[in-house]
Amino acid sequence: MAYEATSFSFLETKLKREKDEITLPQRLQLAHLPTPIQSLPFLSQELGKEIFIKRDDLTGFGVSGNKIRKLEFLMAEAREKGCDAVITCGGIQSNHARATALIARRLGLQPILLLRGEEPDSYQGNLLINKMCSALVHWISPNDWPNHPTVMKEIHDAYAEQGWSPIIIPEGGSNELGSLAYILCEKEIQEFEKHQQKTFDSVFCATGSGGTYAGLLLGKYLLNADETDFYTINVCDSDEYFENRVKSLMIDSIRKHELPISFIPEDIRIIDGFVGPGYGEASEPQLDLILEMARMEGFLFDPVYTGKALFGMKEALKKAPDVFGDRILFIHTGGVFANFDQASLLEQKIRNQEERWWN
Ligand SMILES: Cc1ncc(COP(=O)(O)O)c(C=O)c1O
Repeated sequence: MAYEATSFSFLETKLKREKDEITLPQRLQLAHLPTPIQSLPFLSQELGKEIFIKRDDLTGFGVSGNKIRKLEFLMAEAREKGCDAVITCGGIQSNHARATALIARRLGLQPILLLRGEEPDSYQGNLLINKMCSALVHWISPNDWPNHPTVMKEIHDAYAEQGWSPIIIPEGGSNELGSLAYILCEKEIQEFEKHQQKTFDSVFCATGSGGTYAGLLLGKYLLNADETDFYTINVCDSDEYFENRVKSLMIDSIRKHELPISFIPEDIRIIDGFVGPGYGEASEPQLDLILEMARMEGFLFDPVYTGKALFGMKEALKKAPDVFGDRILFIHTGGVFANFDQASLLEQKIRNQEERWWN
């Protein structure tokens, strides 16, 4: 049963610019912000640059990573509209679906998920968490996935007929509203830069549905981050697909929220070539890097998003060290639960390593 959760406040965000002040739509205070920025000493030494990491994996525990920033805006809309159920979608191990399910429960809303795949024999990783909080799960085959917006609408209508008031949140929480969240992340980055009296030359993040990167670029323009370039590594699809996707998300946000900016499409910088064997599957060197980072830095990355993106960033910095400058920031967008879903692959690698070390 839905109930009225009252322990979350609505926040209004004002962005001060030279001549004007922008008020963003209301958001719910859900995430632990600002997230810290920390150095990566081992990687910095290896690459001969100052490498930092923004710990968006620490926005929360179960409801963690980049998703919760977007959900602050998206769930505020759900509450304002008086909805009692939330429908969203993603892959079987979607971090966004898991975060949405848990935060829906905290807000007293019913989570309804459309997941790509089939109900498996055992529940692992994010699917286990979805089941723990009794999200209602519907399944869609990979072949039918291109049609998922229509299927979500059908699910919406079926629940509405039963008396529910559901709201649809798109894949990854990436729409004109969810993307605004990463403007605030850029604001936090600038506060850190001000404190350090040094700016970052390049900022990198992973892209899966485009909203995080689109929001960072909106932040670059709104907050005049002229000295910093923003790059993203796509973990699925192609650079062409994401150039179009990010452009249209930015245009939608600018139009819908009357943001006083225009942008140069050349500033959308997608680094392609690191998808590996496919979405959700990391290559051997990507898995090796995940283990190396745990061993050398004590940080956890994942095989679906951040491990691939960090690998892509590292390769780009090695290949063209002069292009990206000397102060680099990687945004860690969360997703560590995927390691538990892919535990056997990692275990095999660890056992091989141990055998080499001890024999
Ligand atoms: C852990 C993690 N990092 C990065 C991303 C990519 O963010 P976006 O979907 O906004 O492109 C996602 C989701 O897609 C994610 O779950």
